[in-house]
Amino acid sequence: MNTRLQHDLISALRDPYHSIPPTWLYDQRGSELFEAITRLPSYYPTRTEFGIFDAHRGAIAAALPAGCLLVELGSGSSRKTVPLLQSLSAPAGYVPLDISADYLADAVEEVRARVPEVPVHPRVADFTRDFDLPPGLPPHTRRVGFFPGSTIGNLREGDAVVLLRRCRRLLGDDAAFLVGVDLEKSPEILMPAYDDPEGVTAAFNRNLLTRINRELGTGFDPEAFDHEARYFSNPPRIEMHLVCRKTTTVEVAGEAFTLAAGESLHTETSHKYSLAYFQTLAAAAGWSLDRHWSDPDGYFAVLLLCGDGGG
Ligand code: AVI
Repeated sequence: MNTRLQHDLISALRDPYHSIPPTWLYDQRGSELFEAITRLPSYYPTRTEFGIFDAHRGAIAAALPAGCLLVELGSGSSRKTVPLLQSLSAPAGYVPLDISADYLADAVEEVRARVPEVPVHPRVADFTRDFDLPPGLPPHTRRVGFFPGSTIGNLREGDAVVLLRRCRRLLGDDAAFLVGVDLEKSPEILMPAYDDPEGVTAAFNRNLLTRINRELGTGFDPEAFDHEARYFSNPPRIEMHLVCRKTTTVEVAGEAFTLAAGESLHTETSHKYSLAYFQTLAAAAGWSLDRHWSDPDGYFAVLLLCGDGGG
């Protein structure tokens, strides 16, 4: 029994505005579906960020301190990390942090096979909560946080600041932080990215209900819910919702909840930041923008932050 999931679902259903943290989207199947999303023609963020790393790999590596320890948050499959590690100057090590032990094991195997000279120090950690670095890391090395993929955009603004502040403390005063940020753009580009014609994002969203049924024994009918992507301009974001098509009653831990037709469960927010606004969030956490790299369309940016001495 997953008591945290049960707690979050009950809170979501008791509240008149039903909203559940997006981390629950990522069980094994959810992570596979997300990987499939990243390969869709309409989902621009992943390939755009890859393009930025490809085009600017030398400059990015040169901007990072030689001999640094790379600490990746939510390393997943570490797809973007291997080429970065290969271009860094004598990295002291790689610390992948991920909530999924299985994904972490795969990532460790991949990095050890492809960059065998770099020591790997994996750690299962949920970076949306309090977490620590693994013990036994090489001392006196400058640490560089690495958080690609614009996953920071899935956090509420306040939580993003808390995470950035926590990283500032964990990584130390002389640290740097390399973060991928999805930028503001028109809804004509955003909407198909989150509501693709192939229906992969819909399957990803509905899989949440399948997971909840499996782990909590609830009786949701995923097919009775429509996937909806909603665009908002202020603050710029896409929200994913599961909208109930007909009146549905489910029981969770002996408590009955009824959702009326048209009611929705908000499953994820994906913030689209301007560079200036993201800088204010980073500044609130003690980071300042050193430099950034973007794609020719200005869809996405990779930002290098450094500690501003404020903590
Ligand atoms: C993981 N994260 C950055 C994705 C995003 O674009 O916000 C999650 C996602 N949700 C639907 N499609 C992709």
